[in-house]
Amino acid sequence: MKMLITGGAGFIGSHVCEFYAQRNYEIFVVDNLSSSNLENIMHIENLTFYQKDVSDCDFMEQLIKEHDFDYVIHLAALVSVAESIAHPKISLKNNLEASLNLLINLRKHSKKLKKALFASSAAVYGNLEKLPKAPEDQVLPQSPYAIDKYAAERNFIIFNELFGLPTTVLRFFNVYGERQNDSSPYSGVISIMLHKFKHDEKFIFFGDGTQTRDFVYIADVIQAINLVLMHEEATGEVYNVGTGHQTSLKEIFDVFSEISKIDLEFEHQDARKGDIKYSYAEIDKLSHLGYTPQFDIHSGLNNLYKKM
Ligand code: UD1
Repeated sequence: MKMLITGGAGFIGSHVCEFYAQRNYEIFVVDNLSSSNLENIMHIENLTFYQKDVSDCDFMEQLIKEHDFDYVIHLAALVSVAESIAHPKISLKNNLEASLNLLINLRKHSKKLKKALFASSAAVYGNLEKLPKAPEDQVLPQSPYAIDKYAAERNFIIFNELFGLPTTVLRFFNVYGERQNDSSPYSGVISIMLHKFKHDEKFIFFGDGTQTRDFVYIADVIQAINLVLMHEEATGEVYNVGTGHQTSLKEIFDVFSEISKIDLEFEHQDARKGDIKYSYAEIDKLSHLGYTPQFDIHSGLNNLYKKM
């Protein structure tokens, strides 16, 4: 089986590569290494790496024509809400245009495609008051990131409805785990906080720290990806990927304090613009495919802390 993983050298992508390489898939990775690291996948055999931008339409067309992939997992993106506000056109190019080009090329050249999976985001729900957030609920995107992710996921679904392309959309909630980039102010909050605890540096809460997220451990995300890939009935559908529970930033901070036994300094600054206040997933739809999260926030953070 040939599998194309865009953004495969990134945090989530490298775990996906490992999982399918162990199952003898032939893996092809396209990644521009803008926020990822080749070292994440150096140890994986049976993997072909292209340092290319997914928005390079000619390159992507040639690649898809040449290989006729069985599976495509589209993870390459600008991943930060805050960064999309600072650079909306980069989000448009990377999060929307590149995925539309991918769909056009798949439609044109794929004969064997079994599933093209799009990594969308819980950010599409915005500050929807109803909790937990379910795939059939209203969306209220409130950042360029969320707008582009929503438009891109609609394209994935519409290419299924119009042309029969076998697509599935996953709305990831807040994924954390080993190899998540911790070196940028735009990195995910758990990786930043962990880095601060490991280096005894002050942590900054944007806002009062009571904002919540559904933090989902990478192993459970891999479980979700594999389930939708292996179930034909997941085609043309949108799923939430989370744990079904919310945790505030303050609670995460307390768990790290307890695990590390460090009394870390912190301060509060203004909340970020475009930031969501409360978020957690309704996961019933994915549960019907057999999804059961294996890690709650305590076991996930403990596991991560030990490995870092
Ligand atoms: C995250 C993901 C996004 C994903 C979305 C799904 C990242 C960078 N972003 O966005 O790709 O689609 O979840 O829900 O992984 N914060 C602090 N201090 C910090 C950093 C962040 O207080 O040093 C706060 C933020 O203001 C925010 C919360 O932590 O309130 C979470 O921020 P972040 O990890 O960037 O995640 P999301 O914006 O939820």
